[in-house]
Amino acid sequence: MTTHRLAVIVVAAGSGVRLGAGAPKAFVPLGGSSILEHALHAVAGMAQPPRVIVVVPADRCAETQRVVERVIGTGEVIAGGPTRQASVAAGLRLIGDADIVLVHDAARALTPSALFDRVADAVAASGNGAVPGVPVADTIKRTSAGGAIVATVDRAELSAVQTPQGFPAGQLLAAYAAAEREVTDDAQLIADAGHPVAIVEGDPLAFKITTAWDLRRAEDLLRTTALTRIGVGTDTHAFAENTVEPLWLACLEWPGERGLAGHSDGDPVAHAIVDALLSAAGLGDIGTVFGTSDPRFAGAHGSVFLAEVRRMLEHAGWRVENVSVQLIGNRPRFSARKEEAERTVSELLGAPVSISATTTDGLGFTGRGEGVAAIATALVAR
Ligand code: CTP
Ligand code: MG
Repeated sequence: MTTHRLAVIVVAAGSGVRLGAGAPKAFVPLGGSSILEHALHAVAGMAQPPRVIVVVPADRCAETQRVVERVIGTGEVIAGGPTRQASVAAGLRLIGDADIVLVHDAARALTPSALFDRVADAVAASGNGAVPGVPVADTIKRTSAGGAIVATVDRAELSAVQTPQGFPAGQLLAAYAAAEREVTDDAQLIADAGHPVAIVEGDPLAFKITTAWDLRRAEDLLRTTALTRIGVGTDTHAFAENTVEPLWLACLEWPGERGLAGHSDGDPVAHAIVDALLSAAGLGDIGTVFGTSDPRFAGAHGSVFLAEVRRMLEHAGWRVENVSVQLIGNRPRFSARKEEAERTVSELLGAPVSISATTTDGLGFTGRGEGVAAIATALVAR
């Protein structure tokens, strides 16, 4: 499959008159952050990282740049125009060499990352525009100016369209350059230019926050929708041949105990947690993230890995909810320092960590005292 260069334009330059929250809509608080920040987290979760362009009111550019750096890493921010169409046009100036462009309303704050992927994949596969749509549930009437019913529209023919809407970059640029009328979505301009646009399955979570009632619905959904994921990780290290290697376990040094062998400090508790966290957040595993060839991590203590993984998770919009670890081995006798170990690791992750220890009744490599193993389970939330 050919790889595409994706750009996502998030339009957030509207004033939010209908919401009436006293601030531009994208900057209105939602679930502890803002409407825009939620939209950006969805972009950050895409399978293939796109070039990101965020279009905001002119006086919001500086603060938005900081939010984009925190949530996405890199991205460009530009001032919008008086209409949505003008704002999209402003964003289009920054798409660079992208060959597929997705245009998304920040106001659709809860849109899942998977919908961005679905639209991008549909454009890549067909070479034409794709927009998400959901069936219309209500019976729709055509009315006269005076408010009388003129006709019933067959709803089987209707689809309520959402964003992100995706198009080949060339089509979208040409359609905007040729635009002769004001439209409310990009698919209309593409259709005006004579190109086909397909509907892909939309998502109820991609509803647009327009009124105060919509904002309340979004708040309620955030409270009740479980945006949590769990992950599991294990690690095993053999006791070192030499006896000078100090033992590091759960980010603590254990004087007088025989050390464990490994590229780093051989701390199986820390490493199992790293794998559990990466797995929960879908960010890979310890081997791919901290390659043994990376000199930054040669001999590094578990605390270095845990701090880096926490940074990566937060960068991707996740926070650690809690971690539970079980250490399996005959030595060291863990219980005396259990609380100290839990406190140390909890502080590193900013979340409660419980660590227990067990033996295997003399069975297996841990029972024979050849090494120790750890199993960690992590819960992350966004
Ligand atoms: N938008 C934009 N620039 C504009 C107008 C709208 O970037 N001049 C963006 C909005 O920020 C929003 C999306 O287009 O993310 C959809 O617009 P809408 O829901 O109408 O938002 P507002 O225009 O902000 O709201 P209202 O019409 O109630 O003022
Ligand atoms: Mg508007």
